[in-house]
Amino acid sequence: MCHDGAAETAAGQASGPATPGRRTFGRLLLAGSGLAALAACTPEPPRPTSSAAVAGTPTPTAAAPSASATASEVPLPGGGQHSLTDPASPWVVVNKHRPLSPAAYVPADLVGPAVRLAVAGEAALLNSTTAAAAEQLFAAAAADGVVLTLASGYRSFATQTVTYGGYVDSRGQAEADTASARPGYSEHQTGWSFDIGDGGGACSFQPCFAEQPAAAWARSNGHRYGFVVRYPWDFHEITGYYYEPWHLRYIGVEAATDMLNRGIATLEEYFGLEAAPDYL
Ligand code: DAL
Ligand code: ZN
Repeated sequence: MCHDGAAETAAGQASGPATPGRRTFGRLLLAGSGLAALAACTPEPPRPTSSAAVAGTPTPTAAAPSASATASEVPLPGGGQHSLTDPASPWVVVNKHRPLSPAAYVPADLVGPAVRLAVAGEAALLNSTTAAAAEQLFAAAAADGVVLTLASGYRSFATQTVTYGGYVDSRGQAEADTASARPGYSEHQTGWSFDIGDGGGACSFQPCFAEQPAAAWARSNGHRYGFVVRYPWDFHEITGYYYEPWHLRYIGVEAATDMLNRGIATLEEYFGLEAAPDYL
C-alpha cells in the first residue's frame, strides 16, 4: 500500500480548490492515499457535523463512557470494561500520543474475512472480531446494492515502516505525518481497522471517495456493525489525520451507536483523551 512517485506527481496536479485549506486537504489526502493511480479529483467532501459523520437511525443506549474519563479503562455502555491501551482491546486508542505497546504488536487471531478483496497477503487479514463484523458489514451493504472492497487491512510493524518511509521519501516527514502513521502508531497494526474501496474502484484513497456509494453507505450504516469512520472531516486537530472516508475502525455496536447518538465524532473525545494533532 505504499505510494510511489506517481502519487507525488498526481498530488501536485490536483485541481485547485477554492481555499488554501481545501488545497491543503486535497494535497494531503492524495499524499496519504498510498496509491499510485491518483486522479485530479478534489471535490469538497461533505462536512460532517459530528452526527452527520455517521448518520443513521440511532438506537437508544444505556449509560455511556464519560466524555471526561481519562482512565485506561472505561465502563461499557452495558457494563464491563474495555482497555484503552491493550492493543487486543476493541477500544484501544492509537494515535500520535498513544503508540502501540508493544510497538511490534501482532494480533494473535488474524484471519482472512470472507469479503470482496482488493488486496492480498497480510493486508487481507483482520483480527477475528473485526473480520466477523466486516463480513456482516459487507453483506449488508451488498443487500442494499452497494459493493464494498477490502482495500487495506492488517499491516505489520515492518509493513508500516516501509509504507511510512515511502511517504517520507517522496514528501518529507511533515507531510507524511498528516497521512500515514509512523510504525508502531497505526491502527492497522491492531487488526481493528481497515480501508474500504468502492466496487467500481472509483476514487480509491482519494478525497472524492467520500462521494462514492461505498463511503456514503459505510458512513450511514457502519455503526450497526460496530464501525466508525476513524478520521472524520475537519477533526484532524484531534485525530492527527485529515479526512479518511475509507478508514473504518471497529469498536463494537454499542459504542459506535452511542457515539452517533451523542454526536461524538472521534475516539479521543468519546473516551475523554487529549487531542493528538502531532507526535510528542
Ligand atoms: N492512514 C492511517 C492514519 C495509518 O497510516 O494508520
Ligand atoms: Zn486506514
